[in-house]
Amino acid sequence: MRKRLVAANWKMNHLAADGARYVQALSAAADSWSVEAVVFPPSTLLMLLNRMLSGTGVQLGAQNCFPAARGAFTGEVSPPQVMDAGARWLLVGHSERRHVMGESDEMVAKKLRAGVEAGLRVLLCVGEQEEERDDGMTEEVLERQCLALAGLAPDEAQHVSLAYEPVWAIGTGNVATPLQAQEAHAFLRQRVSELLGAEIARGMRIVYGGSITPQSFPSILEQPDVDGGLVGGASLDADRFVELVRQANG
Ligand code: PGA
Repeated sequence: MRKRLVAANWKMNHLAADGARYVQALSAAADSWSVEAVVFPPSTLLMLLNRMLSGTGVQLGAQNCFPAARGAFTGEVSPPQVMDAGARWLLVGHSERRHVMGESDEMVAKKLRAGVEAGLRVLLCVGEQEEERDDGMTEEVLERQCLALAGLAPDEAQHVSLAYEPVWAIGTGNVATPLQAQEAHAFLRQRVSELLGAEIARGMRIVYGGSITPQSFPSILEQPDVDGGLVGGASLDADRFVELVRQANG
């Protein structure tokens, strides 16, 4: 059985005061969850939130890092630095990094490897753009983006999860149908099986992301290859995020 994973991606939102209020509400609600809940705040809040979340069972992740341990990379933070600040997870390949910041598949693969090597658990995001889906290229895009997983040893792959986030669904209110999500997740699991073996594929969490709300989440969660969610907009309010975690908790 794969343990469900529900993650809040705050993106570039929240200052320290809002962040602190949020995790207070979250940790007050967190005692009886069997799912994994992870918050990805801006890096500036990691240390503060790490202090507040310690002992609550809610985990912390970084939204980004540069794939080197140290050096002359002005403005960047390294995997060991985000770990030092309390992050245990790392998001890589998010559509905004790929399509707004212009990150290549090669850069995403390097970040994934650097995160795993530093001892972080990595959530690799993949997903097609609207034109790619319209042109029948969804599987080709997912297949290419999954190559970031190639060459991971079994003990490394255990620390990696996937997020299927169709770009046309992110922040648009246009959530994928349960069937669209299931088809993409089943395809991804098959690809992971081909790249890393059937056992790794069976154990890997594949979460859905893109306009999740408490209205849409339950029917997506019912799909056999959906193991949770990566939530943007609906995760910015602690009560809404708590509701989503409770839905996944069953
Ligand atoms: P959304 O964002 O829930 O606001 O669509 C999801 C994401 O970008 O991870």
